[in-house]
Amino acid sequence: MEQRYVNESRCYKTSRIFPTDVNNHNTLFGGKLMAYIDDIASIAATKHCRQMVVTASTDSVDFLLPIRPSDSVCLEAFVTWTGRSSMEVFVKVIKEDLRTAERHIAATSFLTFVALDANNKPSTVPQVIPQTEEEKRLHETAVGRAEMRRQRREESKKFADYLTTTFPWE
Ligand SMILES: CC(C)(COP(=O)(O)OP(=O)(O)OC[C@H]1O[C@@H](n2cnc3c(N)ncnc32)[C@H](O)[C@@H]1OP(=O)(O)O)[C@@H](O)C(=O)NCCC(=O)NCCS
Repeated sequence: MEQRYVNESRCYKTSRIFPTDVNNHNTLFGGKLMAYIDDIASIAATKHCRQMVVTASTDSVDFLLPIRPSDSVCLEAFVTWTGRSSMEVFVKVIKEDLRTAERHIAATSFLTFVALDANNKPSTVPQVIPQTEEEKRLHETAVGRAEMRRQRREESKKFADYLTTTFPWE
């Protein structure tokens, strides 16, 4: 079984906060940050497996602190755990006050990506090897998150069976 270090998937993206990026509180719009998160997480997953990937799910996005126009926002993403064809990606969002250099964790997110082969079928990915303390902690706790996702997916499928697809004007 092929193996890759967590570090081989690690990537960063730093951005300014422009007037078009903010909400009516003059802080970074949550939807904009979620798009940044999905974007960088898909790059980390692709770097790990070097195959086409799709987002299977986003467990959570926890917005811990508001990000203001005087801050920069830096996202760090890496693969923390792998199944057969799925990869868990962790995204850490750090805001930095550009005048004082003060940094804080502004948000965190876990997402799952699935590698696809040329026929768009789930395809095996290399196992991931954690090295740093942070990577090891995220790797060790991933099995519990994977089990929670498996249960949630079952519930989502049952829920989808119950929902209608008709529109009110039909
Ligand atoms: C994700 C997808 C490829 C899974 O396909 P599937 O036929 O259900 O495949 P399987 O049931 O064999 O599952 C394949 C893997 O995906 C994982 N998976 C599937 N759905 C998942 C979910 N909602 N959350 C987390 N993992 C999921 C399974 O656990 C399995 O992992 P493993 O191989 O590591 O054990 C399919 O549901 C899909 O194409 N979804 C739409 C993706 C999309 O459009 N994303 C947005 C744009 S990129």
